[in-house]
Amino acid sequence: MSIDKESLSFKRTKYCGEFTKDDAGETVIAVGWVEKQRDLGNLIFIDLRDRTGIIQLTIYENKVSKEYFSNASRCRAEFVIAARGVVQLRNEKNENLKTGEIEICVEQLNILSQSKTPPFEIRNIYKTSLELRSKYRYLELRNKDMQNTLMFRHKIVKYTRDFFDENGFLEIETPILIKSTPEGARDYLVPSRVHKGSFYALPQSPQLYKQLLMVAGYDRYFQIAKCFRDEDLRAHRQPEFTQIDLEMSFVDEEDIININEKYVKGLFSKILNINLKTPFIRLNYSQAMEMYGSDKPDIRFEMKIINITEGLKQSNFKIFKSAATSGGVYAINLKDKADKMSRKNIDKLVEFVKTYRAKGLAYSKPYENFSSFEKFLSNEEVEYIYKSTNANKNDIIFIVADENRETALLSLGALRVYLAEKFELYNKNQFAFLWVLKFPLFEYSEEEKRYISKHHPFTAISDEDLNILETQPENCHAKAYDLVLNGCEIGGGSVRINSEEIQKRVFKALNFTESEIEEKFGFLVEAFKYGAPPHAGMAYGLDRLVMIMLKKSSIRDVIAFPKMQNACELMTNSPGHVQQKQLDELNIAIKNN
Ligand code: AMO
Repeated sequence: MSIDKESLSFKRTKYCGEFTKDDAGETVIAVGWVEKQRDLGNLIFIDLRDRTGIIQLTIYENKVSKEYFSNASRCRAEFVIAARGVVQLRNEKNENLKTGEIEICVEQLNILSQSKTPPFEIRNIYKTSLELRSKYRYLELRNKDMQNTLMFRHKIVKYTRDFFDENGFLEIETPILIKSTPEGARDYLVPSRVHKGSFYALPQSPQLYKQLLMVAGYDRYFQIAKCFRDEDLRAHRQPEFTQIDLEMSFVDEEDIININEKYVKGLFSKILNINLKTPFIRLNYSQAMEMYGSDKPDIRFEMKIINITEGLKQSNFKIFKSAATSGGVYAINLKDKADKMSRKNIDKLVEFVKTYRAKGLAYSKPYENFSSFEKFLSNEEVEYIYKSTNANKNDIIFIVADENRETALLSLGALRVYLAEKFELYNKNQFAFLWVLKFPLFEYSEEEKRYISKHHPFTAISDEDLNILETQPENCHAKAYDLVLNGCEIGGGSVRINSEEIQKRVFKALNFTESEIEEKFGFLVEAFKYGAPPHAGMAYGLDRLVMIMLKKSSIRDVIAFPKMQNACELMTNSPGHVQQKQLDELNIAIKNN
């Protein structure tokens, strides 16, 4: 674009980061934010920034009018300016800048908007507290790393939309104000003004609507969908997050796995230029738990859990014996790190496993007479443990024995991950995918004193378990699958029930009465009476996917306006109080306790 020599508007020629040495000699207009201004008296340098990068502006006192030179000298960090000038090659190249070979020799410079002194330096956001950064999130978002992250996220969404479109999926929006249906996490509720005392819920996912779209014949659906869950915020969770949600008709588990492997492979190839090996590894839930003590194992490193229950059933050591007879005794071997593990370090690990309900953590440095349990065992039992764990000198073995097998496995599983992080036992650049299959259909809720669905009540039961649905619900498996990446659940889904008879049997196993079914899911049960195709689906946590692809440690870093740990948003101060008038319209009174 050629520029009229006299004009200086804020219509840029190019983004700052896009100028190259091919532009040398051209008169151009650049606009953006002042990253840095250096005033050398008769010469001023300004680093001008936008979302694509930085270009250096050079302002010589003897080459511009007084007014423009004074504008340049007034520039401070985060002022918004427009500059017209000629691109020229620099005497010395700045290797740290994409545009380091060139600069714009300024002829005119206008300040478009001033800035207060920002509360932190945009280039050094990580030196500032999270609270302050969150309060000024729009300033934090000016940081290069943040801008690159959101541009990267955009590319993933774009690829996703293109992929599903090319594979015959329709993107269809589903409502945000819906009926509250129990199961799963707690709903966010929205009071209705028109129907006083009634509430909408925000969707935890588009689950029921996407199944209704299958009943309606749309065959292949996807949506980049906002989901809302009022749950305690553990790692990698946000109260409001985004799913890549999909559902397909006339398919089984294999079809879902295949199309999703194709999607993920294409995504990594296109966005990261990484060639993933498919098909991904598959593990059944029970194998994952037994080997890794987790339903989302990180398989970038070994240190598998070893079952040593069998050889300790006759032990004279009461703790091991009673766990071995009614629960389980499990071990992990941290190879070649005994010299790095002092008593003090081990004591910390004992406290760590207790947070996973383990009663204790037994340990041994083999052949070193440094053990919390060997003195209580026979020589044969010690030998058995060494052999089972493939123990060598300088290894360190950790054992959890518990009357509850799951407690032993989960606590050792968590310890396994903790130790791997501490000793960097894995390659941080690796992306290790696996499918976890054959989840239990139900889990027992002590709180509700009944079985609840592990996934949701519309999840299909494995064909081979149909005949034990009434007699052994605890042993029934689901046609459900999770996609795990580097120890994080990035997606999950299931084949759905499409038989009225089986759906009734599952509801019964869940102890729902006829009227509860009618009240909670009546519309879906009714819809299924009008020709429901076999269907199955899945949803990815988009935020988690972006986080792992970018090797970020928090999903906060990949969401433009995330919530804090306590579900607050510090920038707008939400949630906040509302006016009495608003409450009155809704017929709502706030209790004061
Ligand atoms: P699920 O509940 O497993 O399945 O959710 C799918 C994926 O969403 C991500 N995720 C979250 N991400 C951030 N913050 C949260 N609070 C959060 N909760 C879940 C996870 C998870 O794997 N309707 C079903 C899918 C289906 O059956 O098709 C569903 O929502 O990465």
